[in-house]
Amino acid sequence: MSRRSLSRRRALALLGLGTASVAVGAAGLATSLGRAAGRLRPETGQPLREAAVVDSRDGVLQVGLTAAAGVRLAGHDTSALGFNGTSPGPTLRLQPGDQLRVRLTNRLGEPTNLHTHGLHVSPLGAGDNQFVRIDPGASFDYTIRVPRDHPPGTFWYHPHHHGVVANQIFGGLVGALLVEGGVRLPVAADRVLLVTDISLDAGGDVVAPDRMAQMMGREGDLVLVNGQHQPVIAAAPGAVQRWRLINGCVSRVLAVRLGGHRLAHIAVDGRYLPAPVARDRVVLAPGNRADLLITPGGTGRYGLVAEPYDRGTTAMMGRMGMASSAPTGPVPLATVDVSGAAHAPMPIPGALPAPPVPAGEVVRRRQITFAVGMGGMGMGGMGGMSFTIDGRTFDPARDDQTTQLGTVEEWTVFNTSPMDHPFHLHNWPFQVTAGSSGTPLVGIRQDVVLVPARGWVRLRIPFVDYAGRSVYHCHILDHEDRGMMATINVRG
Ligand code: C2O
Ligand code: CU
Ligand code: CU
Repeated sequence: MSRRSLSRRRALALLGLGTASVAVGAAGLATSLGRAAGRLRPETGQPLREAAVVDSRDGVLQVGLTAAAGVRLAGHDTSALGFNGTSPGPTLRLQPGDQLRVRLTNRLGEPTNLHTHGLHVSPLGAGDNQFVRIDPGASFDYTIRVPRDHPPGTFWYHPHHHGVVANQIFGGLVGALLVEGGVRLPVAADRVLLVTDISLDAGGDVVAPDRMAQMMGREGDLVLVNGQHQPVIAAAPGAVQRWRLINGCVSRVLAVRLGGHRLAHIAVDGRYLPAPVARDRVVLAPGNRADLLITPGGTGRYGLVAEPYDRGTTAMMGRMGMASSAPTGPVPLATVDVSGAAHAPMPIPGALPAPPVPAGEVVRRRQITFAVGMGGMGMGGMGGMSFTIDGRTFDPARDDQTTQLGTVEEWTVFNTSPMDHPFHLHNWPFQVTAGSSGTPLVGIRQDVVLVPARGWVRLRIPFVDYAGRSVYHCHILDHEDRGMMATINVRG
């Protein structure tokens, strides 16, 4: 037993908590004790930086990415993880029709691989293939062919080796992936805001979440934007900015609001909406992206915050007979500093080039059920807690669903548990056609949708363009690593 958990036990004993609570209930307390006992003091309020951009040339984006520990985060040298020495890694920017050629070199102490989240590309061979395994010290050459008709938009990349995905993303292995082309919106600035969370001790080492935090889906103490803590985004009154907001957190749902401003939502998961939608706040599940147009108002400083969002963890802990440290208040993400002379008016376009949804009758319906098993729970601990899809945990050798290329399917995804689970399908974006929460439908395809606690969503999925085996899973990556993932085989 480590010194940390010994002292935690002592602290719990002092608080008069029984050993049964110690076994499972230490998450919130450990966090507060840990904070007192020396978490990293982040550097705050620096001008926003963005990752280096690597562009394609003559139809090819060739890049080497080395995954390794040792990056600067929140103004400190840390042992967190990055690609080519930074977290986020470089922003990869390409055109429809390009080839993305990545040589990924693994300098971690465990296997890894690469996933281009949201791209409608092939899951086969050296493509966006989640069954590739790159061992420590090894390299792998990916060739991902982005089709000519791929929608332009905001995507991202991250590792996807089952069992260590949450650790590696929490550690910092994320990067933005932009598909250009199509209309050029007249904006004064076009920014990537890649949000991650992490816990770091005073020495800059990543603090591993305890078991309870993993069950709930870990949330880091520090919420970072492009690896910075509460950076400052410069803006001029009236000068419209495009923000490509990416939720790269392992579990945290971001309910984003900008003080004093409305947000014009223009794209969901890398696909334009038919027209901008004015919103007070935008909710992003882990993995989701939102492209926003911001029209800075009068001069001053405005907070960009993530409001408290209960994804069901309080109810979940309650069912286990525990109190939870419920969300306390808004988490500041960044400050927008509006200063200088007013810009000439920049009209926001009235219509946007939403990509068409492939036509075709639904020929097959399926029901998919996300469940959390509480068997084995109780005074003895939580060894029996299971995270399943249709009663099973992930087996890469098993085909869970099989279909024929060209088939349009309708999936109803149920969630029988008291917490939300974000459903994510690789390679084939889907359209949400109904859901228990009554959230207005966006009418375009997306790739992550929150399935509410004890609720459901209905999806229309055109399995078009690519055959091959791939996966769908909960994008709370602690749940995915514990088995809440399954395979789909699309036969060509
Ligand atoms: Cu963001 Cu299966 O991934
Ligand atoms: Cu994905
Ligand atoms: Cu989940």
